[in-house]
Amino acid sequence: MTPIPIQQATRRRKALRAWFDPRGRGLGFIAFALQRITGLGLVLYLLLHMAVLTTLLQGESAWDQFVAFAKSPIMLLFDLLLIAGILIHGLNGLRVSIVGLGFGVKQHKTFFWIMMLLSALLFVYAGWLLFAH
Ligand code: HEM
Repeated sequence: MTPIPIQQATRRRKALRAWFDPRGRGLGFIAFALQRITGLGLVLYLLLHMAVLTTLLQGESAWDQFVAFAKSPIMLLFDLLLIAGILIHGLNGLRVSIVGLGFGVKQHKTFFWIMMLLSALLFVYAGWLLFAH
């Protein structure tokens, strides 16, 4: 493997560090970062989901065992995390698409907060459905 030139390595390190430095960031960056993190999280979930589905190949009892595990409180907490990711990504994605089409461009910040409020309300409702039923 050819070594990476020092300048290039420094540039990469700086770019990586910038991701974790919240100073001087606007709402646009926060929205973008949320979309990227939740998007990658959803891809990871999809891969895990497909891996877990292979349990079906091991027969009915292996699947029943997995379902019992999936209903445990810790897994329900992971379900909540997934729901938060879906809501934030889906509703913010809808906002990005609508603003991208030229609607609500001037109000895009308010639009962001409305979508986040809607996400929070739906999240609480989903949590209630998961744990109170
Ligand atoms: C309700 C459904 C969804 C909507 C409306 C939506 C919308 C969007 C939009 C508009 C973007 C581009 C954001 C930008 O350019 O600033 C995006 C990015 C992305 N989405 Fe989704 N999406 C949805 C579902 C999903 C799902 C199910 C996955 C994964 C399985 C996913 C994974 C990603 C990824 C990885 C990115 C790229 C993020 C980045 O590079 O910054 N999305 N989505």
